Amino acid sequence: MNRYADIAAMRQCRASWQRQGLSAALVPTMGFFHEGHLSLMRRAKTLADRVVVSLFVNPMQFGPAEDLASYPRYLERDSALAAEAGVDALFTPTAAEMYSPNFQTKVVVSGLGQGLCGASRPGHFDGVATVVTKLFHIVAPDVAVFGEKDWQQLAVIRRLVADLNFNLRIVGHPIVREADGLAMSSRNTYLTKEERQAAVCLCRSLIMAQDLAQHKETVVAAIEKAVRDFIEQNPGFSVEYATVVDGASLMPAAKLDENSLLALAVQVNGRVRLIDNARLFC
Ligand code: PAJ
Repeated sequence: MNRYADIAAMRQCRASWQRQGLSAALVPTMGFFHEGHLSLMRRAKTLADRVVVSLFVNPMQFGPAEDLASYPRYLERDSALAAEAGVDALFTPTAAEMYSPNFQTKVVVSGLGQGLCGASRPGHFDGVATVVTKLFHIVAPDVAVFGEKDWQQLAVIRRLVADLNFNLRIVGHPIVREADGLAMSSRNTYLTKEERQAAVCLCRSLIMAQDLAQHKETVVAAIEKAVRDFIEQNPGFSVEYATVVDGASLMPAAKLDENSLLALAVQVNGRVRLIDNARLFC
């Protein structure tokens, strides 16, 4: 596996594959790899001749009070894991390489990026859309893989690609979970032992919501309330949103249908923010 820290070298690598007629898949990440990231990489390997993973903790998508400084960074460990997963190129630019002092451009996906996580993290999806646009231009992939764990992010990227006519395919990959059901996340490491044990309530609440929707309950607000109450039984757990939305438009659902998705964001002791989601009918 080759590692490139500068944009020119990454472009040269891609250009040489292009000359050989080789297709490329991109998996954008912020590192501290877990099985969720690695399964995206393995999926990418089935989709193209070569796989590029970008590892960049993107300052533009973090709010001023968020965890940019403390976000876990373990480049050597990540590099070994990516190589093991069969990645061909690891792109690890610095913030200075990606954002010149004179940087002034922002990509805004105005509708899909506003609600849910966009409401509590203003500007977050502008940062995501901007960096992903840059990565698409630098790597010129034929296909890019994103996790369904960040459902709203995936919807924003799909919109971005359609609206700006990027010539590439977006593939969504299912959520990878721990043995007890907790969605894997780099931020799970911030949880104390007790918080980690209690955090299983997120995925359990999703299963409960599916059960309610499929068997007894037709009122959206009743499902949302049941989920909120279930999670908030756990001391320190506070629901930021538990909202049934249409899986494509992300608009709050007035009534349940086969596209209904329950999206969740939970604050744990005001310190750790966890997200999860599930379709209500699968
Ligand atoms: P990061 O949080 O590192 O996630 C990188 C990719 O891994 C995203 O597509 C995310 O949805 C996926 N992922 C994370 N946990 C997952 C899980 N448990 N199961 C399946 N997929 C999972 O998301 C970002 O980085 C950034 O916003 C980025 C897109 C790289 C832009 O900076």
